[in-house]
Amino acid sequence: MKRTKINVLLNIDTPPQEALIKGWVRTKRDSKEFLFMEINDGSCLKNIQVVANNDLKNYQQIQTITTGSSVCVLGKVVESPGKGQKWEIQAIAVEILNIAPESYPLQKKRHSDEFLRTIAHLRPRTNKYGAAFRLRSEMAFAIHKFYREKGFRYLTTPLITGSDCEGAGEMFRVTSLDPELVKKAGQMDFKKDFFGQESNLTVSGQLSAEMFALALGDVYSFGPTFRAENSNTSRHVAEFWMLEPEMAFCDLKENMDHGEELVKYLTRHAMDECPEDMALFCNFVDKSLSKRIDTLLNTEFARVSYTEAIDILEKSKTAFEFKVEYGTDLQSEHERYLAEEHFKKPVFLTDYPKEIKPFYMRMNDDGKTVAAVDLLVPGIGELIGGSQREERLLVLEQRMRDMNLPMENYWWYLDSRKFGSAPHSGFGMGFERFLMMITGISNIRDVIPFPRTPGSIDF
Ligand code: 4AD
Ligand code: MG
Repeated sequence: MKRTKINVLLNIDTPPQEALIKGWVRTKRDSKEFLFMEINDGSCLKNIQVVANNDLKNYQQIQTITTGSSVCVLGKVVESPGKGQKWEIQAIAVEILNIAPESYPLQKKRHSDEFLRTIAHLRPRTNKYGAAFRLRSEMAFAIHKFYREKGFRYLTTPLITGSDCEGAGEMFRVTSLDPELVKKAGQMDFKKDFFGQESNLTVSGQLSAEMFALALGDVYSFGPTFRAENSNTSRHVAEFWMLEPEMAFCDLKENMDHGEELVKYLTRHAMDECPEDMALFCNFVDKSLSKRIDTLLNTEFARVSYTEAIDILEKSKTAFEFKVEYGTDLQSEHERYLAEEHFKKPVFLTDYPKEIKPFYMRMNDDGKTVAAVDLLVPGIGELIGGSQREERLLVLEQRMRDMNLPMENYWWYLDSRKFGSAPHSGFGMGFERFLMMITGISNIRDVIPFPRTPGSIDF
């Protein structure tokens, strides 16, 4: 008989008389004549209850089943007298695949997130992490669905790159040089390296995406990005996934409209397609989540300039740890004050001083600010960072010179401004930050399967 997944079985109106299920035992309760097992196979949050009578021929062996063991159960599907589940399984045969010893760390009691991080290979077997990673999968699908419906093309941008998109120098080096030989020579000779020049893991696929937006129109890339920044915070990891739409013939306002539509669409999809998992987050992870999601879905996001935001922060009576000053980057406490206390909803901040933004952002007419946009959201801070791009060749070249960028490395990028340049815009949305926002999970390490952070890469 073919295996039936538990989510399928629990959602059938008229179930088959018999079913074969396979999964992991969450709990087992014994009595003299029979025993109960709660089986989970990861297909959904819910377990299915199995009742095994003592007339089963391997009953003694079945009694040795422990939490965490893996089993196959063939049984009759019967209506369940217990509440919360439609069907249960009256076992005809129980095959034990593996008995988990007592050292299995996920025994019944609740575990802290910190502890579960030390067993990141086992934590997806808990309710909360199972839900988080099912949702992560569903959201990746929703991203592709959204863009397909809008006629965007999916672009895979390279992970190994010869240019630094953000210009922040927070890159992981890629090399095939032998460290022993480098030590002997006393320096890295990039000419002898694999690519014949310095190369790194990408911090963003944007520059490549721009080339394709100026050919295919609307594109998006969605993939891993790497940052060697030494920030040990609850919102930074060294390897994360970024969604980057890039749109030709699109200005800053349309860029924001797009970001707002995207966030709302994905949130709605999560509520519609993952109601059980979302209910777990609302009930057990963050009591204020439902209200936040309601705001996300049903209110227009605020839009103000960086200058206005500085004004709001300066007038606020809050004692910030970091001083608010025009011309400096906002700290996370400032971003959160704006989204959580002042606007009480997501807010787009636009037109930042050029000094604190990368070379590719479009210069505004004031000559001081650029057409940048960040989306700040309650509970997280920065979710999206983007801009309208500088499409004017001379202005772009001047800006690169002012910033001492090695122009020769960007010859191909500059080509796009020579040959059929056009206004275009885009942004990057951190996938993990988005997941934090809609699950209420407060540490980024808990929404990515195996987090990479400074000083930690166990798995
Ligand atoms: O604001 P960022 O640095 O923007 C860019 O890289 C642009 N080139 C994107 C573009 O315009 N195509 O990063 C974009 C987003 C941030 O808003 C944040 O959500 C996320 O990426 N992010 C991180 N997420 C987790 N860990 C980190 N270390 C992150 N750094 C950025
Ligand atoms: Mg940013």
